[in-house]
Amino acid sequence: SATPSVDLAMFGALGDLALRKLFPALYHLEREGLLGETTRILGLARQTLETAAFRDKVTAALKTHLKGETLDKACLARFLERLEFLSVDFAKPEGYTTIRDWRRQAPDARPLMIYLAVPASIYGAICHNLKAGDCLDDSARVVVEKPIGYDLDSSNAINDAIGAVFPESRVYRIDHYLGKETVQNLIALRFANPLFGTQWNQNHISHVEITVAEKVGIEGRWGYFDQAGQLRDMVQNHLLQLLCLIAMDPPSNLDADAIRDEKVKVLKALKPFTPEVLERDVVRGQYIAGSVDGQSVPGYLDEEGANTTSRTETFVAMKTEVANWRWAGVPFYLRTGKRMPEKLSQIVIHFRQQPHYIFDPDQRGLASNKLIIRLQPEEGIALQVLTKDSGLDKGMRLRPGPLDLDFNSAFPKSRIPDAYERLLLEVMKGQQYLFVRRDEVEYAWRWIDQLIGAWEARDDAPRRYPAGSWGPVASIAMITQDGRSWYEDY
Ligand code: BG6
Repeated sequence: SATPSVDLAMFGALGDLALRKLFPALYHLEREGLLGETTRILGLARQTLETAAFRDKVTAALKTHLKGETLDKACLARFLERLEFLSVDFAKPEGYTTIRDWRRQAPDARPLMIYLAVPASIYGAICHNLKAGDCLDDSARVVVEKPIGYDLDSSNAINDAIGAVFPESRVYRIDHYLGKETVQNLIALRFANPLFGTQWNQNHISHVEITVAEKVGIEGRWGYFDQAGQLRDMVQNHLLQLLCLIAMDPPSNLDADAIRDEKVKVLKALKPFTPEVLERDVVRGQYIAGSVDGQSVPGYLDEEGANTTSRTETFVAMKTEVANWRWAGVPFYLRTGKRMPEKLSQIVIHFRQQPHYIFDPDQRGLASNKLIIRLQPEEGIALQVLTKDSGLDKGMRLRPGPLDLDFNSAFPKSRIPDAYERLLLEVMKGQQYLFVRRDEVEYAWRWIDQLIGAWEARDDAPRRYPAGSWGPVASIAMITQDGRSWYEDY
């Protein structure tokens, strides 16, 4: 269906997020014919810049960030035509009259979409000034990015400030993992296929692995990252969202609140960390110098801007459990880290073994199905099944092999869109199911805060791991002590 036209006001329009992700995504929407006919886009930043110069900057950013893609001239011209720029000091209410005037020039009634591509510390001031400056009406929706706070209290302060101006039904909190194609496919896979739907519980699933490994290090963000650490930067949001989508009960329909209600139930059911659990089932790591793709890279403490005594983790592995009827006794092993050998995001669902086994006892370890859901690099879903090894001399030897769905080859015509394209489009349509509701953020923080509190009480240094490895040895031991191993068919 045609996308409704909106007025998009982008705060922080010259920042990294806007130039690297948001404008490329908007350009793609233009190219796909998915921007509303008369959608207008207003770039806002403190710098003084003419609209023409702003359009040049956006063009340059598209060239840099749409690697290898040739820009379509007609499409680019159409896109740039939508863009305007205003220089505004976000902290000063006076500046907002220009935004109000821009809004009043809209050719017809249409929703206002405000994108806050700025640090969370100024969300509150901007929301307040937008309201005080009479820029808002009942159509106005606001889009915000992580990190929403540093813990439960600071996230509540930010959410209160946003909530003082916008009702929850018009707040769109981005977790860009929810915009990834395969992540949404989890919903289709689980709830459209009886084959999986009927097996999705502790009777049939033995354990679940979620790995989100990155090759990159800190990328010039040491100051931010060192305050956060991998647990807040990746687990509190992305990994917990993945966990929720795997573990949630079927929603009664696809409405945003029906889905989010089920996700919140999962977050509430996550087992708290006791000292014993912490000792046995949680590993924090920090990378030291090593090599990635054959290139030497410095350790975390030698990165530019580093404070050499930091104990911030760049890796975390943990085993947790969703304490409810569906999942009792099923471990969820999570791990995520910077400077790993691969960029790999993958969920592996391990099904239980057959109750009665009739094949070669040596092959017993093979005997279970695995569902492998890859988010990146290649998005796809593979089901590992056991078949008979072919050949006259093989007898009844078993061989694991994939029933493989590679989206790129199965559906060659469909380009896999970037997460931001989908997310921006959903906001334009006013659909919230891919965005995080306030109570999800809160329950996620409660669980994370509890873990951090327990860490701090122990005051352990993180375990070292060389850049380019799969993390501290202890993270391997954490899973092998349960007689299992991380799935390694990268
Ligand atoms: C961001 C984190 O939210 O996600 C980054 O702040 C991380 O540290 C990034 O690198 C990973 O996203 P993706 O889409 O590349 O897996």
